[in-house]
Amino acid sequence: MSLRFKVRVPATSANIGVGYDCLGLALDYLLELEVEESDKIEFLENGKPFSIPIEDNYIFEAIKFTEKYLVKNLPSYKVNIIRNDIPLARGLGSSSSAIVAGILIANTFAGNPLSIDKIAELAIKMEGHPDNVVPAIFGGMVLTAHDKENIVYSTISDTEELCFYVMIPDFKLSTERARSVLPKSYLVSDAINNMSKLGLLVNAFNKKDYSNLRFLLGDKIHQPYRFALINNSEKIFAASKEYGALGEYISGAGPTLISLNYDNDEFLENMKQMLDTLEDKWTIEKKKLNLKGAEVYDEEIF
Ligand code: HSE
Repeated sequence: MSLRFKVRVPATSANIGVGYDCLGLALDYLLELEVEESDKIEFLENGKPFSIPIEDNYIFEAIKFTEKYLVKNLPSYKVNIIRNDIPLARGLGSSSSAIVAGILIANTFAGNPLSIDKIAELAIKMEGHPDNVVPAIFGGMVLTAHDKENIVYSTISDTEELCFYVMIPDFKLSTERARSVLPKSYLVSDAINNMSKLGLLVNAFNKKDYSNLRFLLGDKIHQPYRFALINNSEKIFAASKEYGALGEYISGAGPTLISLNYDNDEFLENMKQMLDTLEDKWTIEKKKLNLKGAEVYDEEIF
């Protein structure tokens, strides 16, 4: 008897301005895989050999990591990536989604011994950034706190009337590089600025009161240091403000930028035209929060 199933994991957008390393959300970009038992380990992309070498393949790493944690020998498998609209190294959590997919694959082959909390714990251990992995698992917007012994998270709200205008450039920025420019210590006043705004930002999302959104997104911990790594980012933020968005932030470690606004095609068009005037190539898409999170579906025994 062999097992066949599909796995679907959304992209994530971490930080949301003032929530550096603790607030994140899932967005409707998807990584979708078909998985089945096979006589050898194989990764394909729409039936063709996968372009990423196995040693750089986070799905494979996460399967091995979970297998080791479970102390179980899993069968060999074939993973076929049937959809991946999460661009690499753009601040949309592509590695988190791959890691979550790998843990779910191992868990399914092992007969589902892991609770969702344990899946989150393993994913945080592997990826290191809970604001990236936890929303990929649960969906929605999630606030997280953790130390060596504890992990606490809470889903915030569905923000149903908010749209995320996701602006992705054609250049990459690694998380490592985007973290290397951050200071080792901060002024107490900057820490207090972020703490107070984060509390009010979460409250604003819960109450769906977006009147002070731009002020509340105004971070002093990471964004000011990262703007210089993202060509034209401040110009794009200024245009977004001019065209009437509610606020904007750098998605994860960048370089993707996100404007928050209601559903507004005129805003989308104005931003598209503005982005077209820049030297780098930028795309813009209107997205909603992904509320489903990671899913294993169409499981069958053959
Ligand atoms: N919170 C992390 C950062 C996300 O901004 O560096 C990176 O994936």
